[in-house]
Amino acid sequence: MKEYEIGVFAGDGIGPEVVAQGIRVLDAVQDKVGGFRLTMTDLPWGAIYWTETGRLVPEDFLDILSGFDAILFGAIGDPARVPDHITLEPLIRIRQSFDQYACMRPCRLYPGVHGPLAGKGPEDVDLVVLRENSEGEYVDSGGRFRRGRPDEVALQTAIHTRRGIERILVFGFELAATRRKRLTMITKSNAQKYGFVLWDEVLADMRDRYPEIEVDKQHVDAAAMNMVRSPERFDVIVASNLFGDILSEIGGGISGGLGLAPSANINPERHYPSMFEPTHGSAPDIAGQGIANPVGAILSGAMMLEWLELDEAAAAVRHAVEAALASGAATRDIGGVLSTEQMAERIIAHIEER
Ligand code: NAD
Ligand code: IPM
Ligand code: MN
Repeated sequence: MKEYEIGVFAGDGIGPEVVAQGIRVLDAVQDKVGGFRLTMTDLPWGAIYWTETGRLVPEDFLDILSGFDAILFGAIGDPARVPDHITLEPLIRIRQSFDQYACMRPCRLYPGVHGPLAGKGPEDVDLVVLRENSEGEYVDSGGRFRRGRPDEVALQTAIHTRRGIERILVFGFELAATRRKRLTMITKSNAQKYGFVLWDEVLADMRDRYPEIEVDKQHVDAAAMNMVRSPERFDVIVASNLFGDILSEIGGGISGGLGLAPSANINPERHYPSMFEPTHGSAPDIAGQGIANPVGAILSGAMMLEWLELDEAAAAVRHAVEAALASGAATRDIGGVLSTEQMAERIIAHIEER
């Protein structure tokens, strides 16, 4: 029996609603496939913890998290009570402290789901946004000067390193080799001549190492349009932290909705736990109504199973999601009537009938 300790940071808003259903699906696949056991430990952190303690997470939260084999994350953010740049800091600290530099965000339009792009079907929308997740525009580097005065200054500096760019490109080339063998690197090197010209040079230095991969480069503005106009041109998109954030949301949109989109924050060297979370946020507009789409969280659970090398279980979850969506199971955000729980139950039914 393989045993894994999973830390569950469900967070705020719809985070706990979708994570609860993700865990039900993981329980079902554990019973059905067998041979492994996931022990879940609930970490009740986020906005509620803040109102009780004045902190979002305990001071030693990274030490606590480092003891798990993997982390399941829901969403954080309660903008009516806590400013977003405070709430979201622990999430960014987990990604950076645990060197989860490869953020994989697969975007697929599943059969049975209505996509927003005219004339584009499931065969046209199947890509992965690979987001550099440890540096770039998200480094805490900057400051505010002359606060509140008319001559106030804010400085926010991005940090791009040769090693950071090279390792995310290596991950991207290896990922592309398992897929349709196409890598598109996104920059804005026509305007940002230090950081993104370094990206261009690092790619030029390494592309000969991967002769079987077709390489393309696009500036982020063109890529934003091309993902909408011709998504079939993309297989693996490698982008900096901020551009990857934005493009993964376009990817979610063209796949039928953000509620379907999973994400994995991977430390490829396995020195630290990796973290699995839906791409979406805490969705305060629909929180507490039981209508959030749990599919992004459920597919993030499948990515966790795959990372733990439980391939049969991961495939069982993915196939059950595909079968449920193909049969028309849908929450409101994708045009259906099912509740969060009912959607998970339709997926679990497909796992059980396997
Ligand atoms: P959001 O992703 O929470 O919501 C955007 C829109 O998509 C909303 O209309 C929402 O109802 C809808 N949506 C999102 N997930 C859905 C789901 N599973 N099912 C159905 N509909 C869904 O983004 P936002 O509104 O910009 O941000 C809300 C809060 O979440 C903010 O505090 C923000 O900072 C935070 N946030 C957190 C994360 C994270 O924890 N990883 C990610 C993004 C945003
Ligand atoms: C995401 C989110 C976060 C990010 C925010 C909430 C800090 O948008 O996971 O995509 O920008 O990384
Ligand atoms: Mn985002």
